[in-house]
Amino acid sequence: MALRDALLCCLWVVWLGHPGLGLPLAPARRSSPAPAVGQFWHVTDLHLDPTYHITDDHTKVCASSKGTNASNPGPFGDVMCDSPYHLILSAFDFIKNSGQEASFMIWTGDSPPHVPVYELSTDTVIMVIANMTTTVQTLFPNLQVFPALGNHDYWPQDQLPAFTSKVYSAVANLWKPWLDEEAIQTLKKGSPINSAFVAPAVTPVKGALQKETNNPGVRLFQYDPHDYKLLDMLQFYLNLTDANLKGESNWQLEYTLTQTYDIEDLQPKSLYGLAKEFAALDSKKFVKYYNYYFVSYDSSVTCDELCKSFQICAIMNLDRNSYVDCLKHYYLKHNL
Ligand SMILES: *[C@@H]1O[C@H](CO)[C@@H](O)[C@H](O)[C@H]1NC(C)=O
Ligand SMILES: *[C@@H]1O[C@H](CO)[C@@H](O)[C@H](O)[C@H]1NC(C)=O
Ligand SMILES: *[C@@H]1O[C@H](CO)[C@@H](O)[C@H](O)[C@H]1NC(C)=O
Repeated sequence: MALRDALLCCLWVVWLGHPGLGLPLAPARRSSPAPAVGQFWHVTDLHLDPTYHITDDHTKVCASSKGTNASNPGPFGDVMCDSPYHLILSAFDFIKNSGQEASFMIWTGDSPPHVPVYELSTDTVIMVIANMTTTVQTLFPNLQVFPALGNHDYWPQDQLPAFTSKVYSAVANLWKPWLDEEAIQTLKKGSPINSAFVAPAVTPVKGALQKETNNPGVRLFQYDPHDYKLLDMLQFYLNLTDANLKGESNWQLEYTLTQTYDIEDLQPKSLYGLAKEFAALDSKKFVKYYNYYFVSYDSSVTCDELCKSFQICAIMNLDRNSYVDCLKHYYLKHNL
């Protein structure tokens, strides 16, 4: 699920295992002191499009453009297309060689491309998830990964059943190296445990009618290793235009959350305070937020009052009813 969907609804994932269980627990006092800060990566929405290839007929570059012309296709992809394998590899290569020590990675799925239902099948979906899993396992043989299924990780998409299925058994097998027995059984039975994540996608794709899209992004979280309290978040991104122009990837730090917004940490109190600042009229922090929302794809894009009401209401309300209430409130208050 790309960024745009994440705004309105959450990424419904089958979260495997119980939060907290199976995590590398804070070490009991050993001779070497525990690090002051733990780190983990969050990667999502790889959306591999295996059909991606550069060709003169831009309607044929990728199946995920659904017959529209790719806009400026290069080795790292195109904004009308889901991810070429090269882009996904560049993201994982960056993570591997970033010099950042991470104790685990959260991978919240959505591996198959955005294409019409009849162009996919159960077997294709399994093949794409297998490809992504093998890619991660080969590059990070010693890293604990906590994988979850996204709404696209099924065929037909959005229809993840609450009972056994071919996809679940295949995925349970693929993810064995990462999961304990209990989590594997939960996955096989299709017992859904939903979680919501909002994060930038690796895929840069946008729909034909959308004006904006995002650069590819991944996130590194910092936490207190004693209680897993979140301390900070670093967002890294690929300037897709630049990477295609130069033919080489240039993943780099986009922003550090506490520094950019001048807040203490990522605790609910700090984030709630920040959201209230965003809501204020002419908030400069909100302008920054909106640029990072599209992962610095186009800083000239602005968000008017109506656009801002959608953003603020989505940030401050997690369920649909209160979100709709918030919008109504906003309309009344601003006569929009
Ligand atoms: C994944 O798919 C890509 C492109 O479709 C292919 O080049 C690559 O070899 C595959 N990798 C694995 C591990 O299956
Ligand atoms: C794609 O671009 C070509 C060349 O500019 C144009 O002739 C064609 O009509 C375009 N196709 C679509 C579906 O927009
Ligand atoms: C991305 O790269 C393009 C082309 O080099 C450049 O014009 C643009 O300013 C860059 N964007 C950012 C946010 O650095």
